[in-house]
Amino acid sequence: MINVTIIGTGNVAFHLSEVFLKNQKINLVEICGRKKNLPSEFNDFIDYSNSIFKLKKSDFYIISVSDEQIENISKNLNVGDSSIVLHCSGSTSINELSNHCSHGVFYPLQTFSIKKSINFSNIPIIIEGNSYKNLNKIKDLALMLSKKVLEASSKQRLAIHVSAVFTNNFTNYMRIVADEILKSNKIDAKILNPLTFETSDKLKHLSSKDAQTGPALRNDLKTIKKHLNLLKGTDYEKVYKTISSEITKLNNEL
Ligand SMILES: NC(=O)c1ccc[n+]([C@@H]2O[C@H](COP(=O)([O-])OP(=O)(O)OC[C@H]3O[C@@H](n4cnc5c(N)ncnc54)[C@H](OP(=O)(O)O)[C@@H]3O)[C@@H](O)[C@H]2O)c1
Repeated sequence: MINVTIIGTGNVAFHLSEVFLKNQKINLVEICGRKKNLPSEFNDFIDYSNSIFKLKKSDFYIISVSDEQIENISKNLNVGDSSIVLHCSGSTSINELSNHCSHGVFYPLQTFSIKKSINFSNIPIIIEGNSYKNLNKIKDLALMLSKKVLEASSKQRLAIHVSAVFTNNFTNYMRIVADEILKSNKIDAKILNPLTFETSDKLKHLSSKDAQTGPALRNDLKTIKKHLNLLKGTDYEKVYKTISSEITKLNNEL
């Protein structure tokens, strides 16, 4: 049985707690957060501590807090040399945990929100360890949750994270913009759902470059002008121009 403690009570902490509770080889020792009580979304049976200074013994301590607080939390965490301290961040160096004898990274490459359930078994888990021995222990833990476990350096992980920002955060922001444009024209944004779902489904069959369509790729200046007229004076005009100009460059490559 592997004993795991989670520090943090946000989106990733919630989903990790759910998947740990379902796994018979993992014992979720406790969750530690700064709130008085464990938020109500979490399973009632989980032990909770709101003091990082009074944690029970565990094999792994997973720091799942905002990136800028990882180093600070790590410095306040006092654990035995054989316990492995991990963080879950894509863009934070492994070195921010170097005050611990055994440390590493456990970065699940997915978008997590408490309100949306998720199947962990297909989520790539990007791992790093401060020694070969620790890396193998982290790998064993990751393989209990997912079939897809990948070792990467902090620099490689940063590149993965910036790519994730483009493919997920920026794409979703584009949908927020699209929803706003439709709303201001009194059209239900759900009309876009089949298009949004097909956009990602296509990638099962085509490369992202082969899947690209639209007026910018076709260099259809007449349509682009109409769109810019419609967006004139809004915050989205500049975004449309910048992205379209980058897509137009693809036209020369394809
Ligand atoms: N969300 C994702 O899609 C995703 C995906 C992969 C990796 N990650 C990584 O996972 C980690 C957690 O992300 P998240 O999305 O779960 O964050 P989140 O939902 O914003 O939750 C952040 C957590 O950090 C806690 N926290 C912040 N400052 C603190 C402090 N000074 N002391 C103690 N606790 C503090 C917050 O406590 P309060 O609730 O009390 O404010 C909260 O529990 C980050 O390293 C992130 O980069 C996130």
